[in-house]
Amino acid sequence: MRILVTGGGGQIGTELLHVLASQGHELSVYDIARRPSAAPGSAAWHRGDVSNRSEVFDVVQELKPEVIYHLAALLSATGETLPHRAYQVNMDGTHNVLEAARTFGVRQVMFASTIAVFGPHLPDPVPNEVSLRPTTMYGITKVAGEMLGEYYDNTWGVDFRGVRFPGLISAGEPGGGTTDYALFMYVHGLRHGAYECFVGPDSTVPMMYMPDALRALVELSAAPKEKLKRHVYNIAAFSPTADEFADAVRARVPNVQLTYNADPMRQSILDSWPARVDDAAARHDWGWKAQYTLDSMSDDLIAKIKAMDE
Ligand SMILES: NC(=O)c1ccc[n+]([C@@H]2O[C@H](COP(=O)([O-])OP(=O)(O)OC[C@H]3O[C@@H](n4cnc5c(N)ncnc54)[C@H](O)[C@@H]3O)[C@@H](O)[C@H]2O)c1
Repeated sequence: MRILVTGGGGQIGTELLHVLASQGHELSVYDIARRPSAAPGSAAWHRGDVSNRSEVFDVVQELKPEVIYHLAALLSATGETLPHRAYQVNMDGTHNVLEAARTFGVRQVMFASTIAVFGPHLPDPVPNEVSLRPTTMYGITKVAGEMLGEYYDNTWGVDFRGVRFPGLISAGEPGGGTTDYALFMYVHGLRHGAYECFVGPDSTVPMMYMPDALRALVELSAAPKEKLKRHVYNIAAFSPTADEFADAVRARVPNVQLTYNADPMRQSILDSWPARVDDAAARHDWGWKAQYTLDSMSDDLIAKIKAMDE
């Protein structure tokens, strides 16, 4: 299949490209950044800005992809620092991608949504269908992206599907999210023997290991349309406190020093998100199930970071 991945040079994109390449797809990337060394050489690289409509139209018209994985975005912490730019990239960018898909007959658009679509004071765990009242620019743009995608599907038949990712953990460099502290505990703990965490020890949000997240995107893309009762799905794996992450690192890295110094901006973003989400709808409709636990992820992640450093 011909697949275009916007934001394919990021934390999720570079790893997704390897999964899609291993399945034999013909891959192109549209990203404002240069090709990172970790990206597979087989993916054609197109540099450009998703918020520029004529550039997006040119690339989709030229490549004629059957599926677009739309990952390009500014993430939560970056989005609060640059809210106007986050609006342009996430809101205009998503509109441009959907409009290009409609215009040039792209069959399917896959969307990377987030637990940041939720606001405070929701049931625990948060169900799939619930009032979406986020308090961050990032969350607002992602709610709009979900709704816009549903509109394009219902009105023009662009097959739009998305998952609400929890905080994602992988050995790759994270892109400015509020949940990056979990990975930093492992990476800095291993490389420097210490890490000062930017949220408090009791902070709790849903998290997931990258291989599960990639599988979710690919499996949802392939799911029979008639089985899907909605466009966007909660997916869940585990929800440790920051200190439970620290314990998992301490158990595997002797003498590591993990301390806390909460940054008010990132702590307040995190506190506005739910501690747990309910992924019953994804389990029911397309058979979703996370495979990694905190323990199995910790073993795998530490081995990967050590292998990178050798
Ligand atoms: N990483 C997570 O924990 C997480 C959690 C929930 C949702 N998501 C979503 O998944 C998607 C990918 O996230 P990620 O972690 O890989 O982020 P990332 O920051 O690592 O990667 C984003 C990519 O988008 C590119 N990009 C940024 N602005 C662009 C623009 N104007 N035009 C074209 N490309 C642009 C960047 O160069 C980068 O390669 C995003 O939509 C994000 O909102 C991520």
